[in-house]
Amino acid sequence: MEVLSVTSEIYPLVKTGGLADVAGALPAALAGTGVTMRTLVPGYPAVIDRMTNGREVARFDDLFGVVGRLLAGRVDGLDLIMLDAPALYDRPGNPYMGPEGWDWPDNWRRFAALSWAASELGLGLVEGYRPHLIHAHDWQAGLVPAYVKYGPSSTLKTVMTVHNMAFQGVFGAEIFGQLRLPAHAFSMEGVEYYGGVGYLKAGVECADVVTTVSPTYAAEIRTAEFGMGLEGLLGNRSATVLGVLNGIDMDAWNPATDTALARPYTAGTIQHRLVNKRAVQEAFGLEVRDGPLFAVVSRLTWQKGIDLLVANIDLLVASGGQLAVLGSGDAELENAVRGAAMRHPGRVGLVTGYDEKLSHLVQGGADVMVVPSRFEPCGLTQMYALRYGCVPLVSRVGGLNDTVIDANVAAIQADVATGVQFAPPTEGALADAIMRVLTLYADQKSWKKMQRRGMKSDVSWQASAARYAQLYASLIGYSTDDSE
Ligand code: ADP
Ligand code: GLC
Repeated sequence: MEVLSVTSEIYPLVKTGGLADVAGALPAALAGTGVTMRTLVPGYPAVIDRMTNGREVARFDDLFGVVGRLLAGRVDGLDLIMLDAPALYDRPGNPYMGPEGWDWPDNWRRFAALSWAASELGLGLVEGYRPHLIHAHDWQAGLVPAYVKYGPSSTLKTVMTVHNMAFQGVFGAEIFGQLRLPAHAFSMEGVEYYGGVGYLKAGVECADVVTTVSPTYAAEIRTAEFGMGLEGLLGNRSATVLGVLNGIDMDAWNPATDTALARPYTAGTIQHRLVNKRAVQEAFGLEVRDGPLFAVVSRLTWQKGIDLLVANIDLLVASGGQLAVLGSGDAELENAVRGAAMRHPGRVGLVTGYDEKLSHLVQGGADVMVVPSRFEPCGLTQMYALRYGCVPLVSRVGGLNDTVIDANVAAIQADVATGVQFAPPTEGALADAIMRVLTLYADQKSWKKMQRRGMKSDVSWQASAARYAQLYASLIGYSTDDSE
């Protein structure tokens, strides 16, 4: 069974968040399930640089007003098709924004082009390659199901995965005429969204199946609080909105072999984490001392509840803790953390920017990973933390709810606790949770047990890859047993 995955980022080539990790890990996770997954990505500079063996398989003379071509090749074990259209993608900055931090004004065209190219591939544009199904990720690929629905193929199936409802790709109605869709697609059953064009809305409306990245988020997005305007639409098609929990790449994130660590370790040699803790303290300009080291590795945004943590930093320090923050995002939040670091030298440290290697070291050295999100479709940081024996302290939302088992009395007695959850996502509830963590940490024997349990919890792709494979098979009428 051939599946074409369409994504705007993919690890290890281009990453701004968890979507890249998922898009990068899924193809290998599906190996052995009968699914062959190729991935269509835009030709950003980082992708062009790595695709040295690319073979041209198609050309476009008029790709929404520019020229482009498709190159196929293997990079880092990934089977990629790159949409090389320099006028759209060969730019500095990240996939969505220029170096000054503003969204590219032609993002509607950049990602319409990506989606249109995907649907052409689905129609058999390239000789010898015809996917049975297209799996579209997030709003950047949201028009894929629309192009398929309004196009000539009646057999091609589409799956739309929503990684984050907060990013919907909404544009003014004036772009519609340039999207190469029939006039009747500008309707409730198509791409129209509150008078404009909604790319994610189009995907959710037109796909055969909609998935999101955890069961709890799948339920949450049917409510006004989390649905961000799409709850009604999702409610109407609830039978086909599934929550499939993300997994993590168990090789890229393995504390026993991780070269980013000062000292690799296993659940049996967990005491070696101390060497990494010292390295984290050094990297963040913190005093070398005992006591719980809390950490954050995150985009610094409202979604991630970083302000809730900032409000609790004085408490955390007064209680003997330290805090290491690796992140970047909103200037205001960055400044708030920086201010706390200045107030508490040696106790609070901030490293801004994006540093993959340091993110691994933090997971391998910190005692507690704080993820106080207001909403979290899945969240990978807490899963990396579990795998690394760094105890997650999380709000009880979305995928955080589905992956961390709260250390309440019953869970401790039953030997199943892997972290601490709090609800609702408020300053006060987080303060109480920090105090609970400190109490748990004080009993080092049971704390170590909790770390080891976390390290053993199943955060792999195994079960979820099988779910995706079954889903694809059911859509195209294959049985997973006899699929090739
Ligand atoms: P989201 O995709 O919403 O940002 P996830 O938890 O799904 O949240 O994924 C975040 C990913 O980005 C993880 O791989 C995390 O380690 C990584 N990450 C976030 N901020 C940084 C940073 N400043 N440096 C390195 N990695 C980071
Ligand atoms: C989004 C979500 C995050 C999720 C990731 C991968 O970025 O914010 O919760 O883990 O996508 O699915």
